Amino acid sequence: MEFTLYSPVKLIFGRPVAQALPEALAELGVRRVLLVSDAGLEKTGLVDQARGILSAAGYVVQTFAEVRSNPTTQDVERALKAAESAGAEALVALGGGSVIDVAKAAGLLMANGGRYRDYQWDGRPITRPITPLIAIPTTAGTGSEMTRTTVIEDEETRFKKGVVSPYLYPRAAVLDPALTTSLPPRLTAAVGADVLGHAVEAYVGRRANPITDALAIMAIQRAWRYLPRAVHEGHDLEARSEMLLASALAGWAFDQSGLGIVHALAGPLAARYGLHHGLCIGLLLPYGLAFNLSALGEKRAGLLDALGLPQEMPDEQVVELMRGWLAGLGIPSTLRELDIPSPTAEELHAMGEEASRMAMMPNNPRPASPEDCRHILEQAAGAPAS
Ligand SMILES: [Fe+2]
Repeated sequence: MEFTLYSPVKLIFGRPVAQALPEALAELGVRRVLLVSDAGLEKTGLVDQARGILSAAGYVVQTFAEVRSNPTTQDVERALKAAESAGAEALVALGGGSVIDVAKAAGLLMANGGRYRDYQWDGRPITRPITPLIAIPTTAGTGSEMTRTTVIEDEETRFKKGVVSPYLYPRAAVLDPALTTSLPPRLTAAVGADVLGHAVEAYVGRRANPITDALAIMAIQRAWRYLPRAVHEGHDLEARSEMLLASALAGWAFDQSGLGIVHALAGPLAARYGLHHGLCIGLLLPYGLAFNLSALGEKRAGLLDALGLPQEMPDEQVVELMRGWLAGLGIPSTLRELDIPSPTAEELHAMGEEASRMAMMPNNPRPASPEDCRHILEQAAGAPAS
């Protein structure tokens, strides 16, 4: 056995953000801060609340609350400008994965110079840690607060490609479950399905190690048990708390051990139809499971155990159970259910090719050819109406 584990994020869980944020910032020895967020959170009053906490603690705060979902390089450039005009010495990202990723990318440019595309496409090396960042997730989904990855769409080409570097880790993650209770059911379900996707793929992936196994199993157990409650009873603080923890555990696990076929397929699918990442993960999870189950070896037992299923359950039944569980959360099992017309043979071929070339594919426990990917996408599209 051989592995390396490196995870420098200070995780502060369960304490009110009003206490935990000033304490986390105090360790950075800074005075001027840019608060990065989005318009939706500004409307809920959460941004004002965070600004108040920072001001009361003696920080000079400016706000950039304009990050869009599926952020592009334009969001990064605008956040960078705001940070520069604020003379920011640290960034506080309050939001979901989009907000945290934009803050990482802006912090990268502040510390390393140049334009984002230099790093995303031209292989310019990242040589310095990003401007110190404190991530405060308001959704239990991407786990970006624990990862060294940022995913930004290129404004010109519309392509999304992650940038990965150990210099991208936030300095601290403040996880206050009370911030997540107002997320609507549909979004809770989609981002929660992403959590399960991260955990399952990290667990069965080729680069998994005993520590990521432990993290991933804890995340699978929590998501499986608590996501339905978080979706159907949004103000259930215990369920929200367990999901926020599951999200961080899953993020931590996949940051170290990688993802697999479900995320590889979700990339081209989400891009082509403008779908939410988590929704795509939820839709594709049963297909990925059906593809992988026979190749899991002893990991099959661990996975079924984490899901509370008997070992003798046949593969098809495990897949059906997962499909039913997701359907109970309102996650569709075909594109047809979303009123998306069946992709043409050329479209399926192109998406299959693209998925098979995605960076996470070599980590999948079972090798997948472009034809395998095309076949799964065809199934996920759903049978044409008769
Ligand atoms: Fe994901």
